[in-house]
Amino acid sequence: MRPLSDRALLFLPFLLFSCAPKLEEVKAPLNFPTDVHSYAQPNEARVTHSFLDLSVDFNTKTLTGSVTHTLTGTNKIVLDTRDLTIARTETSTDGQTFAPAQHTLGASDPILGAPLTIPLASGDRFVRVHYTTSPKAVALQWLEPSQTAGKRAPYLYTQGQPIYTRSWIPVQDSPSIRITYKARIRTQPNFFAVMSANNDQRTAAPTGDYSFDMTQAVPPYLIALAVGEIQFRLIGGRTGVYTEKAMLDASAREFTDLENMLSAAERLYGTYRWDRYDLLVLPPSFPIGGMENPRLTFATPTILAGDKSLVSLVSHELAHSWSGNLVTNATWSDFWLNEGFTVYVERRIQEEIYGVQQSEMEFAIEVDELKKEMATLKPEDTRLHVDLKGRDPEDGVTLVPYVKGALLLRALEQELGRERWDAFVRSYFDKFAFQSITTATFESYLKEQFPNLKLDFKQWIYSPGLPASTPVIKSLLLEAATEQAARFAAGKPVETRDWLSLQYLSFLRALPPTLTAAQMAALDQQFRFTQSKNSEILAAWLLLSVQHNYTPASAALEDFLSRVGRQKFIKPLYQELAKTPAGKTRAAALFAKYKPNYHPIAAAAVEAILKK
Ligand code: BES
Ligand code: ZN
Repeated sequence: MRPLSDRALLFLPFLLFSCAPKLEEVKAPLNFPTDVHSYAQPNEARVTHSFLDLSVDFNTKTLTGSVTHTLTGTNKIVLDTRDLTIARTETSTDGQTFAPAQHTLGASDPILGAPLTIPLASGDRFVRVHYTTSPKAVALQWLEPSQTAGKRAPYLYTQGQPIYTRSWIPVQDSPSIRITYKARIRTQPNFFAVMSANNDQRTAAPTGDYSFDMTQAVPPYLIALAVGEIQFRLIGGRTGVYTEKAMLDASAREFTDLENMLSAAERLYGTYRWDRYDLLVLPPSFPIGGMENPRLTFATPTILAGDKSLVSLVSHELAHSWSGNLVTNATWSDFWLNEGFTVYVERRIQEEIYGVQQSEMEFAIEVDELKKEMATLKPEDTRLHVDLKGRDPEDGVTLVPYVKGALLLRALEQELGRERWDAFVRSYFDKFAFQSITTATFESYLKEQFPNLKLDFKQWIYSPGLPASTPVIKSLLLEAATEQAARFAAGKPVETRDWLSLQYLSFLRALPPTLTAAQMAALDQQFRFTQSKNSEILAAWLLLSVQHNYTPASAALEDFLSRVGRQKFIKPLYQELAKTPAGKTRAAALFAKYKPNYHPIAAAAVEAILKK
């Protein structure tokens, strides 16, 4: 141990005589960075803990109740809200007796929502807000029984990232602000509720009254809730899966490697700090692939391929337990710190479990997709640090933070060697655990650890495009697939013996939009793509079918768009349809019919495509 510094000596009495609070609760910065996507003014007053007390009403599609925030600071507290009806607010000095407060709700911005300001008298340590959510709340999807697998009961789930939590909880909705939370959630007695928190009732019979406790400080975008006819099955000692009964067997089979993934991640990056790691497999309307809600990743059922070929998504969400949830981007402009690191860690977990050929193929596929997407982006949106002032943080969600971010870390690994680089990454997760940091903080830690670093960090972060020195990710498996696609397009026979699912996917993605009707029919006949149970392969095939007006896949397209709400799949399909007048008419008709099956975020995205 190093000798105690003068500063540490000052704190010695405190260390000796008080019961030390949990580390994760006390690490707030001296100065919070500016977050252009939150009205909160944490340098004046901030929330440290929240208690949610909510009733779930499926008839009115609302949550009603209160949140009680514990806070530190003076003068006034500013919370973020969006489409909330505020009934009343109260303040308290002791958390026992509350007095009415004179809050003001500011004007509503279409992206940010409205600030809720509550004045504080001296000594006030608690505020309580009584409120009801709107049936249109962007964070919430309310499913009818017919939209679930069981068809008997309705279903509710939340999606908080990036700035949607404010539409179901009045909070300081900035990733720079971390809180612990407790919740009491009341539902009808036959429903089961789960949250991104400690949950003791995993296998008990549903009661309709659930309590949750998250003792580790997390940013508000990681608060999550789901309610429905949800059941649980253990996978390993610390891992398991929640889902509707109809998907329980398939989910348990697909994720048998979950416990091994967790152990592999721990060997690489240190102890898993969140106790349990469970998955919640949602109904197919879930608008994204996966969401790393702590202790309980939310995932799309479209990764249930039957052959584990799409489980890298689970490695990705698991990786966020270190990058993102432990060390968090302080603003949405620092999003690459969450996602670039996570894609890098995902690759390393996949390498441990499925071998380097598999992980390099996955990486090479992503780099191809990155290059395709970059060609469509404005140069300033191809920087790792994007200026999002006045913009929706969703504008920054491209493959750039994900894959360019991971390539930067790969470049660092190449320069430093795996051993030194891995030791650095472990120390980084330890040093900044339970903190939210900016790119500048990462840069100074990196330069402090490696003063002679050759890599041009500023160029990677602030210049558009990919630096000339970008690592080349080579995969023979991927090359074989794209080579066969070129052969097929040229009218030659193809050889697909022993191919992995991902090779078929790459093969389809590499085919040109100029095949003949006979070629499309031949492909379908040989490989049965229209019947594929692999959602990635099916989505790629349906995209080709739209491009080529291949009508035998028409019913499969409608079936897919009727059930699946994952934006990664449905946005390109609607986009492709909208390219021709007849396609656009069909797209509008399909959307009108199936809009209720999509989450509000996905519906808005499709609406924007069809309006163009
Ligand atoms: N944290 C993201 C999801 C997200 C990002 C939601 C930004 C809202 C705004 C999650 O970890 C993620 O990246 N999911 C990907 C899958 C992954 C394997 C690339 C997805 O949903 O497609
Ligand atoms: Zn992610």
